[in-house]
Amino acid sequence: MPDQNQPDAIALLKADHRKVEDLFAEFEAAKGAARKLTLVRQVCTELSAHTVIEEEIFCPACRGQVEDGLLNEGYVEHDGGKVLIAELLASAPNEELYDAKVKVLSEQIEHHVHEEERRSDGIFSQARAAGLDMDELGNRLKTRKEAILAEYKTSGIPAPETRTFTGHTLEQGKPVGENSGAG
Ligand SMILES: [Fe+2]
Repeated sequence: MPDQNQPDAIALLKADHRKVEDLFAEFEAAKGAARKLTLVRQVCTELSAHTVIEEEIFCPACRGQVEDGLLNEGYVEHDGGKVLIAELLASAPNEELYDAKVKVLSEQIEHHVHEEERRSDGIFSQARAAGLDMDELGNRLKTRKEAILAEYKTSGIPAPETRTFTGHTLEQGKPVGENSGAG
């Protein structure tokens, strides 16, 4: 069992993944708008904090030690997730596509987890093989995550900040479900 006071970086990030997976599973079984809203806020809190600590601390430490392409894809993938997180934070569970947005976010996260955790050549196994100091990194991740969660508690979850998307202005077309005139 990892020591929670001296967390190994990979154990800490994997524990984040398991927590979010559990929340998504609970959402699938959840009934009622209030319960769904609570779960989605927890998912957005956990994922936002996880993303920040990976982008600020873990991924930069991996640069030069782990394949660049894999790290770059991770940043882009994070930004994709942030769009859905922003959507969900601005939506209510009774909206038509709310459940679909949660489902797609969960699938994106499943992919993110695979890229990091897959055994032979995932980001974690490459970082471990390169000899990164996982205790030192784990301490930094833990300290930063605690500070972020305290900040969210006081000020709410902030709008996600992209690292690779450059902020295009998108036009919203006719929403799905509105009569398109077909038939
Ligand atoms: Fe992760």
